[in-house]
Amino acid sequence: MDTKIIRVEEPHIQMSLLRQAGEIIRAGGLVAFPTETVYGLGGDALSPESSKKIYAAKGRPSDNPLIVHIYRMEDLAFLVSEIPETAVKLAEAFWPGPLTMIFHKSEAVPYETTGGLDTVAVRMPSHPTAAAFIREAGGYVAAPSANRSGKPSPTSARFVEEDLKGRIEMILDGGDVEIGLESTIIDMTAGKPVILRPGYITKEMLEEVLQSVDEDGTMMTDESGQAPKAPGMKYRHYAPEGSLTIVEGGGEQVTSYINRQVDRLRQQGVKTGVIGTDATIGRYRGDVCKSAGSREDERTIARELYRILREFDDEKVAVIYSESFDTAGIGQAIMNRLLKASGHHIIYLNDECY
Ligand code: TXA
Ligand code: MG
Repeated sequence: MDTKIIRVEEPHIQMSLLRQAGEIIRAGGLVAFPTETVYGLGGDALSPESSKKIYAAKGRPSDNPLIVHIYRMEDLAFLVSEIPETAVKLAEAFWPGPLTMIFHKSEAVPYETTGGLDTVAVRMPSHPTAAAFIREAGGYVAAPSANRSGKPSPTSARFVEEDLKGRIEMILDGGDVEIGLESTIIDMTAGKPVILRPGYITKEMLEEVLQSVDEDGTMMTDESGQAPKAPGMKYRHYAPEGSLTIVEGGGEQVTSYINRQVDRLRQQGVKTGVIGTDATIGRYRGDVCKSAGSREDERTIARELYRILREFDDEKVAVIYSESFDTAGIGQAIMNRLLKASGHHIIYLNDECY
């Protein structure tokens, strides 16, 4: 299949291009599009065949449900059997934006879209191109992240191209995304709302609107013995091809520990990589060393993380060490993705190791 790649320049979005993209969705095809979090791989959310095509293009297990994207609040009622008052409050505070809410689904949503579940995930993105595209596509666009299953989510159209060129009809290229990590997911179907996936909208932000929300026990650890409630979170999702280890400890300890490891590996002929920060990156001796940005600027770290993981793949790095990050604010989402990418492989240094 020939994949059309179309550059969409904001703020003057060429509506004729988006109309073409919308047409493809209405005709049962697939279009990748930019959102404020990561690129999405869109298909008609109300069509079982389109959802099957999405799973096939991504190489994704079909028990992993898709998020339905809408562009206006009026359209929510059609997708769900009930809208809790708490969800209305969250929508008022955070939609359009990087928050996905889970509801009991209506009959309009096929099981192919929800991976067989009776619930449906819904999100209203704030990216202007995404909103206009969803409208042109008929209002209900199912979209997982636009990566091949097992790769980091794409934060730029060139990564979508790497993964999906030849497998989908069109890519809308809106440049680099703003946030770089997938939306926060919150389950609104069980009494108290539960965060299933951390993101840019943090627990603290949600609790400013609803006094109290819970967190899925599997979010930051794999030791709870429970299955994650978001089926997608059980897969080793955001994985680089090299093996990744996170190293936590005092600054100096971490640098010297990682340097000892990379020296040892180099002697064995193994290509190594290090993820550090602006303040530390110059001190590492790995073959490929990349800074995720300044520790004080977590938004930049969030935006850079997936690009960095992909670059390590491109450079065929076999063993990667990463510094650990603070889990306050969006730091929790950064560490959640890094922990998943590493298969929860984290080393805690203490004074004895040093
Ligand atoms: O930021 C985002 O959310 C991006 C952009 C494109 O909007 N989309 C995205 O979709 O990250 P995806 O498919 O890569 O991740 C969706 C996650 C999966 O972990 C899936 O299991 C979970 O949402 N999910 C979807 N529907 C669910 C449901 N009904 N119940 C529980 N989890 C659900
Ligand atoms: Mg994904």
